[in-house]
Amino acid sequence: MKKFFAIFVCFVMTLTLAACGETPTENIEPADNPETENTAEPAEDVPENPEESPEESPAEGGKTLVVYYSATNNTEAVAGYIADATGADTFELIPTEPYTSADLDWTDRDSRVSREHDDASLRDVELENAVPDNWGDYDTVFVGYPIWWGEASWVLDGFISANDFTGKTVIPFCTSSSSSLGQSGELLEEAAGTGKWLEGQRFRSGAHEDDVKDWVAGLEL
Ligand SMILES: Cc1cc2nc3c(=O)[nH]c(=O)nc-3n(C[C@H](O)[C@H](O)[C@H](O)COP(=O)(O)O)c2cc1C
Repeated sequence: MKKFFAIFVCFVMTLTLAACGETPTENIEPADNPETENTAEPAEDVPENPEESPEESPAEGGKTLVVYYSATNNTEAVAGYIADATGADTFELIPTEPYTSADLDWTDRDSRVSREHDDASLRDVELENAVPDNWGDYDTVFVGYPIWWGEASWVLDGFISANDFTGKTVIPFCTSSSSSLGQSGELLEEAAGTGKWLEGQRFRSGAHEDDVKDWVAGLEL
């Protein structure tokens, strides 16, 4: 009887040990187990829906365009230096009714700019040319403007709203007497709603060509 009992105990122990011999990792959920995590589909393999991420589609031509508005030629000079440095095309924004010197007299409360500044509803400046030719060919667009009362001149607004910047790298630049770039680039980016906007750069009125070219070289486009 003792012998039979001993054999029975051995049999039970053998079964128990066999059950305990399974690898411990097998009961761990895949997300918690580093050895099995790789069996999950990698997130980057999941194709993104292009409808949901239009920013992923680059423009096709790989060309650079410098778009600018300049009332008194300071911004125009900087635009020219950028175009020389990058081999870019240029596109000047021209108001249908250009600003005269009197219009630009910000010290006169009744001048055109002063009235437009004081009443935003007057700032809808019609442009001769809001949409550059072959816009789709450009994947890099510099956007230049003078600072007016600490902001980008509103002459830019018609150009910003008339164009789709999807797939383009956009680089704001401005000239001013003393004001910084401030939020001018960010506000243009917000108004555009599309495009990959870089931080941008402010130059003083009468900027030196070397300063502009050094900045362009630092962009590593
Ligand atoms: C209506 C008006 C408002 C201006 N406001 C500012 C300003 O807030 N801060 C500043 O530093 N310069 C200001 N300026 C100076 C211009 O930003 C500066 O002269 C600029 O270089 C002009 O560029 P442009 O020659 O391309 O038009 C203003 C000029 C004008 C005509």
